[in-house]
This record gives sequence, structure tokens and C-alpha cells, in this order.
Amino acid sequence: MEDLVKTLAENRTFTDAEFAALLEVDRYDADLFSEADRVRRAVYGDAVYIRGLIECTNFCKNDCYYCGIRRGNKNASRYRLSKEEILSCCAEGYALGFRTFVLQGGEDPYFTDERICEIVSAIRETYPDCAITLSLGEKSRASYQAYFDAGANRYLLRHETANPAHYAKLHPAELSLDNRKRCLYDLKAIGYAVGAGMMVGSPFQTTDDLVADLRFLEELEPQMIGIGPFLRHKDTPFADMPNGSLPLTLRLLAILRLMFPRALIPATTALGTIHPHGREMGLRAGANVIMPNLSPSDVRKKYLLYDNKITAGEEAAQALALLEKTVSDAGYRVVVDIGNPK
Ligand code: 5AD
Repeated sequence: MEDLVKTLAENRTFTDAEFAALLEVDRYDADLFSEADRVRRAVYGDAVYIRGLIECTNFCKNDCYYCGIRRGNKNASRYRLSKEEILSCCAEGYALGFRTFVLQGGEDPYFTDERICEIVSAIRETYPDCAITLSLGEKSRASYQAYFDAGANRYLLRHETANPAHYAKLHPAELSLDNRKRCLYDLKAIGYAVGAGMMVGSPFQTTDDLVADLRFLEELEPQMIGIGPFLRHKDTPFADMPNGSLPLTLRLLAILRLMFPRALIPATTALGTIHPHGREMGLRAGANVIMPNLSPSDVRKKYLLYDNKITAGEEAAQALALLEKTVSDAGYRVVVDIGNPK
């Protein structure tokens, strides 16, 4: 095996120059993927955890340049789910075997803290054996605390990029990396299991930016790490930018598995969108979570963060049997379990 990969597996970290070397060429990939798979099996065996994703609103007050549901996209057909609709998604998911519900949405002012707490409390009361994950963007510490007190226990908030200058090229001036980091540290301090992560190949990203992302993740020590390739959306300022790369995303998944052996790392929808077998490749590179869509079918095609987002096949929570087969063909096993971080 290449010494560089062995060193990373043993030390779980690197110098900046070594990270850069590993990121920029493909000659280490075979060793990286097999080491990542070994480490993942040592901690989690062949388990793949499933999370039911409920996309509760595509209204968003933010205007992130990469995102298809940005407020400036006048072509987006907007929707929000009612409390009853969200609860019926959970009921359907529970019957299918899901034990984690992820409520994800744009930053929609309709969902006040009061409404969010009401929904979280209702889910908590009905499903005391389930994890409730929120992914609703940047909020005050008091708001995060209120959701936690209502019964939420995990929160996903990607940092997107750890370089403040790069952050400013992806977001309007009213959004800052500092506030994003403040949110992540508040969430940790409150007691949430926290997920962060970056888009791979987002416009203007350099190798140094990715090294900064790895350093930031080392500092934050999140329990969950979500990464996926940047994919352009036709109604955004980045409509003509090149998509992120599948090989670079897989390489980063493997590096993250070696750096964070216990992390819960999804093979994301973006990975499944960039290549028909992207998620299986992600699992073989170290990912151990899949998040099928539990949203009502009529709104699924409206939560379009990027062009061509997949909504059928294994992506649909209802097609669990298909997902189970795909996962087992890849050499792993879907488990019905809350899947807490180890
Ligand atoms: N391509 C890939 N990922 C995207 N996201 C948003 N827009 C895009 C895009 N165009 C990701 C962001 C966000 C997550 C919910 O989806 O990283 O945090």
C-alpha cells in the first residue's frame, strides 16, 4: 500500500501539503477506498443507516448563488407542508422501518420557532424511539435550544466552505462564515449531534479551500459529515459553472472516513444524481448512511437545489426493497435502527 494512505489511516491527519497531494492525483484512490472500507467495517461493520428525509418547505429568505430554491429564483414553484402532512410522512416512514426523521427546508419565516417546536414535540410524543434531525438553517442559540427542548436531537448545517473569501463568492454579503460557525458551535454546546460538510467542486474552490475544510472539520469534530458534488441549477447565477467531480467527491469521502472513523457519512442525493451508481460508489469509499425521500410525491419535484435531482428509484423511501438490494449488491446491509453515532 502507498505510504501516504497508511500514514493517514494511522495518524488520522496530515500536513497541508500531504492533504493537497492526496487530493490532486488519482494514484492513491484504490488504496484510499480499500483502507476507508476497512476502517468503516471495523467501527460500523456492514451497516448502512437509513434516514427518512422530509423536505418541509422550499421557501427561503436566503439568496445563495448556487442554490435552486434561493429567494431570487422566480421560476421555483413554492410549497410548504402542514404539520399534519409532516406527521403523515413520519407515519408512513415509521411503517416502512425508518427510525430517524430529517426535517429539511429553506429558511422559511412561516416556520416560526413556535411552529417548529409544535411539530417537533408532536413527532417526539408519537415516536419516542426515533431520532429527530433538523436541517432548517441558521438560527439563534435560543431557537436551537427551544427545538432541542422540544425533542430534536440532531442538526445538519453544512459549513459549505471554510475559507471566508470563498464563502463570500458563494453567498450574498448578509451571510457570513462566522455566523455559520457560530451556529455549529452553539448546536454542539446545546448537545445536538451535529452535521457539517462542504460542496465539492463549488465555483472558485481550490485545493487549499478543501484543505481548510478538512482542518475546520478537525476542529469542530462533527458526528455527521455530509458532502456532495456541486451541481449547477439553470436559474441561478452559477448556471454556467462546471459541475463538481465524482472522483474528487469519492476521494474526499474516503479521506473523511480515515480522519473520522466514527462519523456518520451519507452517500448523498447529489452523488446519486451525478452518476447512476454514485451512491454505491460512495458506500464503497466509506459512506454509511443513505437518506431516501419521504416527502409527499407531489412536492418532491419542487425541492430542486440543482438540475436533474433524482426523485425515483432508491431515492424514494417507498422503494426500500430496491434500496436494500442495491445496498446488498454493493456489499453492505440496510439496518432498521436509530443509528446513533458510535
Ligand atoms: N449543488 C450541490 N449541492 C447543493 N446544495 C445546495 N445547492 C446545491 C447545488 N447546486 C447543498 C448545500 C446545502 C445542502 C442542503 O444542499 O450544501 O447545505
